[in-house]
Amino acid sequence: MKSVKVKAHANIALIKYWGKKDEKLFLPFNSSLSLTLDAFYTITDVKVIDGKSDVFYLDGKIQDEEETSKISKFIDRFRKLSNKDFCVRIDSKNHFPTAAGLASSASGFAALAGALNEIYETRLDKKHLSIMARKGSGSATRSLFGGFVEWKKGHDDLSSFAEKFDDANWDIGMIIVILNDKKKKVLSRAGMKQTVETCPFYPAWVEDAKKDLEDIKVAIKEQDLDKVGEIAEYSAMKMHATMMATRPSIIYMQPKSLEVINMVKELRHQGLSCYVTMDAGPNVKIITSSRFKDEIIDKLKNIIDKDKIIYSKVGTDLEILERVI
Ligand code: DP6
Repeated sequence: MKSVKVKAHANIALIKYWGKKDEKLFLPFNSSLSLTLDAFYTITDVKVIDGKSDVFYLDGKIQDEEETSKISKFIDRFRKLSNKDFCVRIDSKNHFPTAAGLASSASGFAALAGALNEIYETRLDKKHLSIMARKGSGSATRSLFGGFVEWKKGHDDLSSFAEKFDDANWDIGMIIVILNDKKKKVLSRAGMKQTVETCPFYPAWVEDAKKDLEDIKVAIKEQDLDKVGEIAEYSAMKMHATMMATRPSIIYMQPKSLEVINMVKELRHQGLSCYVTMDAGPNVKIITSSRFKDEIIDKLKNIIDKDKIIYSKVGTDLEILERVI
């Protein structure tokens, strides 16, 4: 029986993607750049089945019709491209330490796209696979690659894709501080739509993101942790400012998030290289290196449970773990 097993890592944007120009095709208003994380990944098993509809298991639980039909629409793209109409059973498992509350859609859709490419024998290269993953979830387009990854916004379906910018073969990593592992109230998809539609600062966000991207690329090539961190923190705070200035306002930060942010600023004053980034939720990610991580984690333990603090090194490319075709 045909089956494939694929692994893809999560990624955290340093220059954020926030807002779609084309909601159907998932074309973003601005290009973004991320760091792939080693400690967080999805493993997806796909098997050919006899039935007339796809079957979808997520973390061991069979998914309802609504969730399965979303995934089936994604699989339809591969069926169409390959001219093969068989159905599949999908078993997707998120290997995130504790219930991390981090978006698993990026690694999830990247792993699924990678697996479907094998099972339907569509033979898409990484660029075209990234185009496919994008149409599952925007941030998934970046999870096909390890290291630092750039998603070039493009202007149409075929020109909007991700590629590796740099291997990140130096000492950089992230401390993930989990403050909430519940499903978020305003999902990023709805949140970014509301921002595009109602935030008066949104055009400034798009314009400014261009410079941030250029600057961070220089900083990455110089392997300058402080510059990379400073620009990433700036991008994240600007994104949150646009969210807050919508109608009604979207506030993802919680009191604990602010406590962590202030602690990071204080540690920076004391000479430690550490910077924050945040996504569509209260969790805080601290950009730092193995040199500073233990001292930062020790301080964090005064205000956060130690099992909610995870250090991650840089993750690698999408990997085909097994292939029986
Ligand atoms: C804040 O990729 O989850 O994490 O494209 O609608 O699926 P959809 O949204 P998603 O948005 C991610 C937003 C972000 C920033 C980022 O990852 O760049």
